[in-house]
Amino acid sequence: MTDITSQTEAALAAIAAAASLDTLEAERLETLGKKGWVSLALKTLGGMSPDERTAAAPAIQSARAAIAEALDAKKAALEAAALEEQLARETIDLTLPALPLPKGSVHPVSQVMDELAEIFADLGFAVATGPEIEDDWHNFTALNMDETHPARAMHDTFYFPDKTTASSNEAVGQQEIGKDILLRTHTSPVQIRSMLDQGAPIRIIAPGRVYRSDSDATHTPMFHQVEGLVIDKDIHLGHLKWTLETFFKAFFEREDIVLRLRPSYFPFTEPSVEVDVGYSNEGGRRVVGGHGDAPGHAWMEIGGSGMVNARVLEFAGIDPAAWQGFAFGLGIDRIAMLKYGMNDLRAFFDGDPRWLAHYGFSPFDQPTLSAGVGARA
Ligand code: DAH
Repeated sequence: MTDITSQTEAALAAIAAAASLDTLEAERLETLGKKGWVSLALKTLGGMSPDERTAAAPAIQSARAAIAEALDAKKAALEAAALEEQLARETIDLTLPALPLPKGSVHPVSQVMDELAEIFADLGFAVATGPEIEDDWHNFTALNMDETHPARAMHDTFYFPDKTTASSNEAVGQQEIGKDILLRTHTSPVQIRSMLDQGAPIRIIAPGRVYRSDSDATHTPMFHQVEGLVIDKDIHLGHLKWTLETFFKAFFEREDIVLRLRPSYFPFTEPSVEVDVGYSNEGGRRVVGGHGDAPGHAWMEIGGSGMVNARVLEFAGIDPAAWQGFAFGLGIDRIAMLKYGMNDLRAFFDGDPRWLAHYGFSPFDQPTLSAGVGARA
């Protein structure tokens, strides 16, 4: 009897002292396990006389109950401690990106559009937009190209079927060509829309998609232009040249940009000029900078511009006696290729992930005037 009492006390002490689930399990086997002393003691009850059994049983049974309870309590305590410790160890950093790392990049055209907006915003220009599905009046007539104007033929316009013919399915099936609704062939109609909307003075750029039925290594049916328009008092070609020069210096991040304005003709400007930039060939790549007539240099056309034609101002409801201004149009894809060194325009619109991984930009690479407008290290 005293034997059991002291054995039980020793077991309870060992259980209380158990520092791990393994030690606790060893203690359980030694007591309540098949060959544990408590189990063996219980077995001896069967061979006893009833009197002996009545005398011996309670001590053994209460020893078993006390030990079982202690084992359970200690097990729970050790498991809770282990969980606490695991939770403290296994912290998760929720600020880490999910795996696999996201792919995708900002297309160079989008990046260059952001760069344009950043640079021109600094010169006081707002960004204007207009519909890509335009009507003939905004795309041509109001830009001083009436129906018979030969310049229209150069635009390779995509027309939608006329409303009247489009109502017959047969006509749509036959791709009947209409005369009014079209995919804009240039961003110049945004000039008209902006003047009609806000009147003078005005200072906007309008970047966006334009469409022409044309396709080879340097022409795609969809491409990008940026239009510029300034209407104010006493504006002259000098303002235009300074603005474009300032823009290109910021865009190409170099001071040695030389522009040449070459007399030209556009129906919506008078006088009209084509804008050339001096460049040189370095390692088979065109690098903008320097005077086009300098040794090893040449001129490259990068856009059209001029003083807004008085007739265009009239179409757009602005009094040409009080206001004048300049406009320009640049090919965005072209200046993106020049800046970032691509040589095939078609690759811009193939959506090849390898091309995008190579030429694309990180969304974190936001162009700013202070941090740079996109010349990557
Ligand atoms: N709209 C012309 C084109 O797509 C480009 C252009 C030339 C725009 C002269 C202008 C400009 O604003 O003044 O061919």
